[in-house]
Amino acid sequence: MTRVFSGMQPSGDPHLGNLLGAWVNWVAMQEAADCIYCVVDLHAMTSPAEHEPETLRQRTVELATGMLAVGVDPERSILFVQSHVHEHAECTWLFNCVAGFGELRKQPQFKEKSEGRGESVSVGLFDYPVLQTADILLYHADEVPVGEDQRHHIELARDIGQRFNHRFGDVFTLPRAVHPQAASRVMDLQDPTSKMSKSQSSEKGIIRLLDDPKQIVKKVKSAVTDSATDIRHDRTEKPGVSNLLEIFSGVTGEPIEKLAAEYDGGGYGPFKQAVAEAVVARLEPFQDRYRELEKDPAEVARLLSEGAARAREIAAPTLAHAKQAMGLLPPGEA
Ligand code: TYM
Repeated sequence: MTRVFSGMQPSGDPHLGNLLGAWVNWVAMQEAADCIYCVVDLHAMTSPAEHEPETLRQRTVELATGMLAVGVDPERSILFVQSHVHEHAECTWLFNCVAGFGELRKQPQFKEKSEGRGESVSVGLFDYPVLQTADILLYHADEVPVGEDQRHHIELARDIGQRFNHRFGDVFTLPRAVHPQAASRVMDLQDPTSKMSKSQSSEKGIIRLLDDPKQIVKKVKSAVTDSATDIRHDRTEKPGVSNLLEIFSGVTGEPIEKLAAEYDGGGYGPFKQAVAEAVVARLEPFQDRYRELEKDPAEVARLLSEGAARAREIAAPTLAHAKQAMGLLPPGEA
């Protein structure tokens, strides 16, 4: 059976990009694969601006609640918190000795996030993709459902895994990224040339999954488009309209071309209204379920402990195998 692994950082409220870029596939893949999903709290510590201890604890619970609300099924899949399975941090060290400084320095996300921060940038931020490699490879994941922005990180995980296997023997499975057909990169509503982001989007540019319907309608209606009136998908010429078409397709499951043909000629007003209504309808069941689940944090905690125990059953033997392959002396042997 195909093994799937993916993770999300508890670094801000989850938004429409997270849902359409990643969570939609997380849920769908449970039908036919063996899925493991993780709240990657260690990753959320890599940027000082986003790391406030009390907030981190709270967001970790909220994100796990969100994953359950969106449809991650703890009966079928494993859901856990990264720091509960210490093998992730330990495996990162092994990979630190395989990964190259040059390949990490070139990672687009590192370049973007470290820009203007000079020497104060944390070693954790630099090492972020190596920890992500450990997340994926510890579970022998075949497929990693993520948004387009994670493509380079998954390629790096493949490269590190391949290099390890070549030097130390066949220990790790090499993963591949899986992106959704539409909306693999949801853009900021106010600046459709930048991605919608927890840390960088303005309030009007981002749709949070728990925004109330009125806010959502207002944000979609004030999304930046252009001065023409035609509705067609062209990311270069019409980034704003294309983004709305991708969102529309992502929330309804209808092909982009069909939606464009249906709304072209009617002007941006009715089109935006329809997109807004579709987003609200898509988020309503999620929001209802979230409100139910957040009443019972003890149950969320119980599910996460169970998930961590199941995750460790897979991660621990993989780590032991990797350590042995690298020549680390097993305890009790001489
Ligand atoms: P994070 O928390 O930044 O994002 C979580 C997921 O949401 C996707 N995403 C988007 N998709 C489309 N449009 C957007 N605007 C958008 N913004 C975010 C991301 O691609 C991601 O799939 N490094 C990962 C977390 C991670 C991970 C892993 C992922 C840690 N370990 C192992 C997979 C496997 C990240 O930045 O997540």
